[in-house]
Amino acid sequence: QAVAQVLVASNRGPVTYSLGDDGTLDAKRGGGGLVSGLSAIGDEADALWVCSALGEGDREAVRRGIGEPGVRMLDIDAAVHADAYNGIANSVLWFVHHMLYQTPLEPAFGPEFRAQWASYETYNRAFAEALAESAADGAAVLVQDYHLTLVPGMLRELRPDLRIGHFSHTPWAPVDYFRMLPDDIAEQVLRGMLGADRLGFLTGRWADAFTECCVAVLGGTSGTRVGVHGLGADADFLRERARRADVEERLSALREQIGPDRKVIVRVDRTELSKNIVRGLHAYRLLLEERPEWRGRVVHVAFAYPSRQDLAVYRDYTAEVSRVASAINSAYGTDDWTPVLLHVKDDFARSLAAYRLADVALVNPIRDGMNLVAKEVPVVSDEGCALVLSREAGAFEELGEDAVVVNPYDVSGTGQALHAALTMSSAERAERTKRLAAAATALPPSQWFLDQLHALAP
Ligand code: G6P
Repeated sequence: QAVAQVLVASNRGPVTYSLGDDGTLDAKRGGGGLVSGLSAIGDEADALWVCSALGEGDREAVRRGIGEPGVRMLDIDAAVHADAYNGIANSVLWFVHHMLYQTPLEPAFGPEFRAQWASYETYNRAFAEALAESAADGAAVLVQDYHLTLVPGMLRELRPDLRIGHFSHTPWAPVDYFRMLPDDIAEQVLRGMLGADRLGFLTGRWADAFTECCVAVLGGTSGTRVGVHGLGADADFLRERARRADVEERLSALREQIGPDRKVIVRVDRTELSKNIVRGLHAYRLLLEERPEWRGRVVHVAFAYPSRQDLAVYRDYTAEVSRVASAINSAYGTDDWTPVLLHVKDDFARSLAAYRLADVALVNPIRDGMNLVAKEVPVVSDEGCALVLSREAGAFEELGEDAVVVNPYDVSGTGQALHAALTMSSAERAERTKRLAAAATALPPSQWFLDQLHALAP
């Protein structure tokens, strides 16, 4: 059944603008799984993507009336946005769902939290009002992620005629962890989401955790349907993109830096606490320490792209990543061998080049909604790549059988897994890569998107 109009709502939109010193605006595609998955919306004839201005460049673009067709960027007050995005979404809800808090200092929900929560409500209301204003009769609205948990409930009150879905790109916290939130806030989040007709999650594990929270806090899910859509990699796009000239160029440059006859362990992440980059580096260091035969024969290519740098805890983590990488290079490096090549400048073409040449991909998050890197590597790998994968990534549900699986906290175990992956025979690696690629592409983004629309149909 055809859907009249589709609206998508998310904090981060498909592009973000940076303002140059000379006043020019430079458009850039946003990172993260949400934007990758939703690129499929471009194929929907009557679609509108409502997102938030994220910085000064975006605000300036809104003022100048610059934007992409089919995108409506909301210029929400900068202080309100900062509270909602940095304060509540990224410092509270993200931390809860990824279980990142560290006692004894965190969390502490006091007056500052309450003030930020009021901004989170204002920010959610701005989205609900914009959607209510832009939506045609009976339109389908797909609200995305933890930034916008209150929107479904608010929108339902403004526009009972709409079909409303919500999708979480993160894990969902286990009930005991979720209940760290003050009781009234926990209730508000769940009730806000239950304003939707249907809620989507990346894996059954996260969907079940959500349902358990509803049962514990509210007594049930009050009729809202819950479904699972395991976003896959976009094989056609990736295979074509990974063969272009800019990727070939970077491939040669990387080969040059790595040197001949060396195995390559690759990781590509936003510099994000949940990605567990520091423990990954420690595991690599252990490998060099405990198995000296690898010294000079392996290089760890680590791309750690800056993320959420307004938050001190992310800035500190970024500094720690580069400190640990340098320490490994000082301890083990020689004149003609650099054990860790750490790059922090975001470059998608270079990421694809690294995917192509990797012998081993290290994906060891503490918790991750899905992790698309784990799904992209096997798709573009030239000669097969062994995947070291955390059992706490959503992707583990689909890829676990052909990966070398690790407990992300177990640094020794991760070091051993790296050794096992490095010594896997090339025939076995190629076989596993083929199966991983098939599993990783089972639900391409366009289908993932359509499935949610169909599931929302009356
Ligand atoms: C995760 C979230 C997305 C977010 C992305 C990048 O994938 O689920 O909602 O857009 O991280 O984070 P950022 O804060 O830069 O938007």
